Amino acid sequence: MIKWFSKFGKNKLLPIDFSVLKTDVHSHLIPAIDDGAQTLEESLKLISALQDLGFSKLITTPHTMSDVYKNTNEIINSGKEKVQQKLQELNNKILLEAASEYYVDFEFQNEIGKKEFLVFGSNYILIEFPFIEAPKNMEDIIFKLQLQGYNVVLAHPERYLYYTIKDYKKLVSKGVFLQLNLLSITGFYSPEVKKQSATLIKENLISFVGTDCHNMRQAEELKRCFTNPLWHQLLDSGKLLNSSL
Ligand SMILES: [Fe+2]
Repeated sequence: MIKWFSKFGKNKLLPIDFSVLKTDVHSHLIPAIDDGAQTLEESLKLISALQDLGFSKLITTPHTMSDVYKNTNEIINSGKEKVQQKLQELNNKILLEAASEYYVDFEFQNEIGKKEFLVFGSNYILIEFPFIEAPKNMEDIIFKLQLQGYNVVLAHPERYLYYTIKDYKKLVSKGVFLQLNLLSITGFYSPEVKKQSATLIKENLISFVGTDCHNMRQAEELKRCFTNPLWHQLLDSGKLLNSSL
C-alpha cells in the first residue's frame, strides 16, 4: 500500500530506502576492469554510498564484452578478492559477491555449453542486449542457456526501446527474469526509458531491480528513487526477488 504524507498542504510519498531490498544485483564496483570504478579508492567510495542507500549485500557485475572488456572469471574473482580484503581491513561488514553482465555477442554465444559463467543466487546469469536491436537468434540463445541450467536475467529491459510490451511478455513467458535499473524510474537515462519502465511495472513484469551503479553521480541520483511512485509500485508488486538473495 503506497503511503503518503502531507507537508505544507502538498501530498508527498514517505521515503523508502533500499534496505527493504537487502541486495543489489547489478553494479560495476571492481576497479579498472570495465567502465565502473577505476581505482580501489573509488570502489570503496561507491560501496559506502550504496550502503548509505540501505544495501547490505552487493552482487557486483562487471561487463564481459568481447571487443571492449575481455573479462574472465579469474580477472573478476581476483578483483573482487582485492576489494574484499580492503573491506575487511576497514572492518566493513558489507557482503560482496561478483558475477558478470554478459553482453550477448558472438563470443558469448560461442561459449554457451563450453564455459562456466559467473552466476548469483539460484544460478541466475545476467545478460544484456545491444541498444540498437535485439540479437537475431535471441530466443535460441536463451533456450541454450536454460538447457545448461541457467536462470536468465535480462538487464535493464526498459532500455531496449525496440521492444514492445508484447515482446517483454513473451520473454517472461519463456522463463526470463527482467531486471529493471532503479535509475530508469527517475528519468536518468531518458523520458522514453522512464515511460517504458512505468509500463513494465504496471504489467508486473519485473523480478529484480539493480542500481547499475558505475560512479558517484549515479549513486547520488539513486536517492531520488525513495519518494518515487514507481519505486513504491515496484515494492507493492510483491514480485521482487532481491531480498531472497
Ligand atoms: Fe551494467
